[in-house]
Order: sequence, then C-alpha cells, then structure tokens
Amino acid sequence: MSRIWITGASSGIGLELASQLLEQGHLVAVSARTVEPLLRLKQEYPNQVLVVAGDLAAPQEVNRIGLQISACWGALDQVILNAGTCEYLEASHFEAAMIERVMRANLFSAAYCVEAALPLLRNAPKGHLVAVCSSVTYLPLPRAEAYGASKAAMRYLFDSLRIDLAEEGIDVTLVSPGFVDTPLTRKNDFPMPMRWPVEKAASHILKQLARRPLEVAFPAPFIAAMRLLALLPKRLQLKLGKHLSRPTTDNQS
Ligand SMILES: NC(=O)c1ccc[n+]([C@@H]2O[C@H](COP(=O)([O-])OP(=O)(O)OC[C@H]3O[C@@H](n4cnc5c(N)ncnc54)[C@H](OP(=O)(O)O)[C@@H]3O)[C@@H](O)[C@H]2O)c1
Repeated sequence: MSRIWITGASSGIGLELASQLLEQGHLVAVSARTVEPLLRLKQEYPNQVLVVAGDLAAPQEVNRIGLQISACWGALDQVILNAGTCEYLEASHFEAAMIERVMRANLFSAAYCVEAALPLLRNAPKGHLVAVCSSVTYLPLPRAEAYGASKAAMRYLFDSLRIDLAEEGIDVTLVSPGFVDTPLTRKNDFPMPMRWPVEKAASHILKQLARRPLEVAFPAPFIAAMRLLALLPKRLQLKLGKHLSRPTTDNQS
C-alpha cells in the first residue's frame, strides 16, 4: 500500500487515476479546486482518501497542502502531478496574459508542488515523482503556443530534475499522452486521432508506472507518428502546420 498524492483529481485523467489507485487499496491524497468530486471519493473510500483541495497555481495554498499531507502521513511514496489546463491562442489576438495564465496553471503549479512534495518523497524509502506532460512537445502545432510552451518547459524541468534526484534514489517519470477523452478535450473543435477512453489511459499509465520508466507515452502509433514528423526539416513542419491550422473566422474573438 503506497501513499500517493494526485493533483487534478476532480476530473478526467486525474480522477480516473485516483479511482483506480483507490480500488487497488492505496492511500491517495487528492487535490483540485473543485471539492465535490474529491468528497465523493472520500465518501466511497473513507479510510484511504485525504482531501487536500486548493488552487495549485497559488504557492501558499500548495504549501498548506504539503503541510497537511505531512501532518497526516509524514511521507509520500509517489506524487502524480497531473493538474493542468489548455487554452488555444489566436495569433490575430495575441494575448501575453494567456501565456502567463497557462504557464502558471501548468508549469508554475508543478514547480510549487515539487517544492512541497520533495521533503515528503525524501521521507519514503524510494520516492517516485511523476509529471503529466503531453505529446504536444514533440512537434510545434498551430494555436498551441501557450499550452505547448508550458508542457515543453515541464519536460525540461522534470528531465533535468531526474538527473539531480537520481543520487537520492527518487525516480522521475514523464507521462506524455496523445488524445484522451476528458472534459478538457471534449472542448476541442478539431479531429483528435486515436483518442483513448480515460479508463484505458489511466490503467495504461498505472501499469507502466509500476516499472518506474523515464517516460510513459501513448498511444504508441500516435507517438511514433509525432516523433517521425519531428524529424522532418522545419520547412516541411511549417507546411504541415499550415495545413493543420484553420482560418480565423469573424466570430472568433
Ligand atoms: N486529455 C488529453 O488528451 C491530454 C493530452 C495530453 C496531456 N494531458 C494532460 O493531462 C492532464 C489532465 O488533463 P485532463 O484531460 O484530465 O483534463 P481535465 O479533465 O480538465 O482535468 C484537469 C484537472 O486539473 C485540475 N486543475 C486545473 N487547474 C488547477 C489549479 N489551478 N489548481 C488545482 N487543480 C487544477 C482540474 O481541477 P479543478 O478545475 O477542479 O481545479 C482537473 O481536476 C493535464 O495536465 C493535461 O494537460 C491531457
């Protein structure tokens, strides 16, 4: 039985990961701003769930959550930093504040969580730090300036952290999903090839995490295609990107 902290556990991949881990009998601390789904998990698994709700983009709230987990368990065997958001940019209305918002929600929140989690991972026999990144980082995609930049920065942060934590015996794994059917992707208005149901994605992630790999990337054919496209000359990538981008219509503001 492991002590696990999952962020973004109110919906989508995080909620499904939490449900499956609870079903397996683990102790799970669940974070998100929306409390109701977390309380439902607590109701279903009263002895296994620790509700640690809050806005992870606010460092003082993350600090409070870290103290709460520390007071209850004193250590964490695994941390799954999954909370995140996606906003698509319209170049015709370039908004720097949006880049800042997405960076705060994805990159900075992850950094605040790492700061809170590291002392707890160090208290476990062999801590495991997991960050949910994205396959978007393999290739520049249209309108993904903010989301892609935040996830690319996360990739570097955790790839680099892996090196520095290795001596302490803390493993770092990146999770790079293709498309998964969640409330986040249900908002998308473009084709999402090879989209996986969330149950399948969560059970695949958990199965792979047991081996503590450097990265869990799926679905395999989608990832292979992204990696191949990433090898194309930049001019060809630009052609492909232009083909994928859709024209801005009058009612988009
Ligand atoms: N679905 C995909 O196809 C896909 C693909 C690649 C990567 N990902 C990544 O997978 C992760 C989960 O995505 P999802 O598809 O499951 O999306 P989702 O259903 O929208 O879930 C996002 C979760 O993050 C939480 N969250 C967002 N901002 C937060 C904040 N400031 N403080 C605390 N919690 C916050 C949300 O909770 P509250 O709103 O209640 O706070 C929610 O629980 C994200 O990092 C996403 O980038 C998803």
